[in-house]
Amino acid sequence: MTISVAIGCRKGGVGKSALSASLASYFAREGKDVLLIDLDPQGNVTFGLGGEPGSVGAAEFLKGEKVAPTILHPNISILAGGPELNSVEVSSLEPEALRDLIADHQLNPDVMIIDLPPYSEHLERLGLVAADHALIPVVAHPFAISGAARIAGLIEARQQRSRPGPQRYALVQSMIDLRRTLDRTLQESLKELFPGIPTFGFRQDISVAYSLTEQLPLHVFDNRARVFPELEEIGAWLNGR
Ligand SMILES: Nc1ncnc2c1ncn2[C@@H]1O[C@H](COP(=O)(O)OP(=O)(O)O)[C@@H](O)[C@H]1O
Ligand SMILES: [Mg+2]
Repeated sequence: MTISVAIGCRKGGVGKSALSASLASYFAREGKDVLLIDLDPQGNVTFGLGGEPGSVGAAEFLKGEKVAPTILHPNISILAGGPELNSVEVSSLEPEALRDLIADHQLNPDVMIIDLPPYSEHLERLGLVAADHALIPVVAHPFAISGAARIAGLIEARQQRSRPGPQRYALVQSMIDLRRTLDRTLQESLKELFPGIPTFGFRQDISVAYSLTEQLPLHVFDNRARVFPELEEIGAWLNGR
């Protein structure tokens, strides 16, 4: 059974792509076969893992072309993101199109991670609907919190109507720096704003940032990065533990 997770939060710069790449690295390090789907027209996670944004990938897959994911590392392959995701053909797809295509192509990696874009609600919905879990990174910024609430609302509306999409979601307090007072109080606020929703932490770590600029999976760049224990907690939740 594939574990599928979409990572999104309307707002840009909250660490969606960094979390997608790091989680891919965590599972690859555990020996799992990971497929990333980059739904961001900017292709940040594609670039950060050593791929080429704009190469044949997610957009062509969505248009129904027969494309194989690009292998970036022994356990990590990707459907690359790129500007073609903004094309008219992609923007006219039904919300369940990606989910159906994944089933049709019998893509069944151990773990599938879908990195959602900040500005396109359409692409965001395509990605969310295709996943059984969602992770919503948030930082101490009002737009990040309102963006998280909108995604949570969309997920819950689909659950209530028994439509395909995430059965469970969690928040990830992203880029935590405990020297910042706001970061220390955010966790409490999130518990109040999202009662009953699990909240994980993902600290600010220079290895996370450098691994992306060096275009290497985190475990290849720094196998002992300080975020691995946090990624392990998220991994356990995704595994239903
Ligand atoms: N946990 C982290 N530690 C250090 N830097 C991070 C972390 N998460 C994100 N960053 C950096 O912050 C910037 C924005 O993150 P990114 O993942 O691209 O955001 P988004 O995908 O939400 O737009 C990037 O330069 C990234 O390297
Ligand atoms: Mg991003």
